[in-house]
Amino acid sequence: MKVVSEACVAFSLAYVYVLLLIGTATVEATPFHRIIPPLQSLYGRRGPSLSHDYRDALTKSILFYEGQRSGKLPLNQRMRWRGDSALSDGAAGHVDLTGGYYDAGDNVKFGFPMAFTTTMLSWSVLEFGGRMGDNLDHAKAAIRWATDYLLKATARPGVIYVQVGDPNLDHKCWERPEDMDTSRNVYKIDADHPGSDVAAETAAALAAASMVFRTTDPIYSRHLLQTAMQVFDFADKHRGAYSDSLQSEVCPFYCSYSGYNDELLWGAAWLQRASRNVSYISYIQSHGQNLGGEDNVNIFSWDDKHAGARVLLAKEVLLRNSKSLEEYRGHADNFVCSLLPGTPNSQAQYTPGGLLYKMSDCNLQYVTSTTFLLFTYPKYLRVSKQVVRCGNMVVTPTRIRTLAKRQVDYILGDNPLRMSYMVGYGAKFPERIHHRGSSLPSIYQHPQIIPCNDGFQSLYSNAPNPNRLVGAVVGGPDNNDHFSDERNDYAHSEPTTYINAPLVGSLAYLAHSFA
Ligand SMILES: *[C@@H]1O[C@H](CO)[C@@H](O)[C@H](O)[C@H]1NC(C)=O
Repeated sequence: MKVVSEACVAFSLAYVYVLLLIGTATVEATPFHRIIPPLQSLYGRRGPSLSHDYRDALTKSILFYEGQRSGKLPLNQRMRWRGDSALSDGAAGHVDLTGGYYDAGDNVKFGFPMAFTTTMLSWSVLEFGGRMGDNLDHAKAAIRWATDYLLKATARPGVIYVQVGDPNLDHKCWERPEDMDTSRNVYKIDADHPGSDVAAETAAALAAASMVFRTTDPIYSRHLLQTAMQVFDFADKHRGAYSDSLQSEVCPFYCSYSGYNDELLWGAAWLQRASRNVSYISYIQSHGQNLGGEDNVNIFSWDDKHAGARVLLAKEVLLRNSKSLEEYRGHADNFVCSLLPGTPNSQAQYTPGGLLYKMSDCNLQYVTSTTFLLFTYPKYLRVSKQVVRCGNMVVTPTRIRTLAKRQVDYILGDNPLRMSYMVGYGAKFPERIHHRGSSLPSIYQHPQIIPCNDGFQSLYSNAPNPNRLVGAVVGGPDNNDHFSDERNDYAHSEPTTYINAPLVGSLAYLAHSFA
């Protein structure tokens, strides 16, 4: 039996643009200070929500990471149905690569999305950690679970281990991580097999995390930052896409479709923020244009980081008055304008129910990553008392946040199906997620091994998953707000670590502001 279960990858064969542009009908010549479109047009067919328990959702969104843990679980593990797994990872390359995260519903440790997840969890804490309350320590533990692994993967100078597990073999089995007996090959990049994409993203992750631990663990923080600088240097000096030398191992799963320029810009942006070493500003000034700093993009994902880099660099302009990065303020504004329904440059599609719609597969990853930027950029605007101008429209920070909040509310249940897309949150949520460990009985209920092929009964069964992967957000509904909750429909039913990571920050903002 063969099952191809690609994780929520970015390539989409079917962009189905049969969507209604929300709000287009309501746009008219606008007085300078009027904020359009009317808010209710963003709510689609349903009215606004009564209220959400954002704090509960925040707690769960972080708890999810415990379900994705690989390696030896600690005594304070709260996701109790999981056990130790992959305790010899790295042995195939005579290195210790235990730990880290399974990226989604399979048992592969993909370094590229793991690094992006780490960067976004760290950014969530850097912007909104002060609003997390008791959740802050759990969020930091979730980051550290990844950075401990990334430090192992980058411990040898000139080499980065970028993946453990053969995805083609892994996907031919439906096994619990605790039973896993497929090949745990290790894959690496080096000067002769470069991977500027995965290396620069790893540098970004380590740099962002170094700021998270700066006051609570300065020694660890310094180690993260020094490693980040070395890894970025390696990424820049030995340029290439990791998918060129690791084609059959990383494609079509986490192929670097957008190339590596975006990661070099993003990595430099994080390093300048973390190190305050002016060499990174000079680097961005000299290379930004070649690295696509001005390209017209309106997507933000594990593959394409240009939009994130813009918002990050715009902060330097707004809060630190960095003249040399001035253009990024305009690029960040353009990104926001492209998303707002009814603005002259609006390019975004929304479902009839009001959800930002980018791609048919795993759409919620784009919603959560974009939403994070739409909460973060207004923070910088607010502090610097600025607004965004889209053509002759003035867009206030509040207006931007309203759109972002609408997206989170949709995920939590304000949608035509009245269901939450976060497992364990609300009254109705996905019960048959595409996730091996969650869909098979726990090793504590069923200690005998469930071999490779036997697990497929569970994949095709209609029964709800026996173990709840609390906090997991799945790929989500289609372009018509439909969701079938079928385990085999990985494009819509699979959770991933990078769907949740930016949502953690958004939920922290909302939990604090709408408590
Ligand atoms: C700044 O970064 C450059 C390039 O990585 C490095 O050569 C230099 O030593 C750094 N300066 C400081 C003060 O850390």
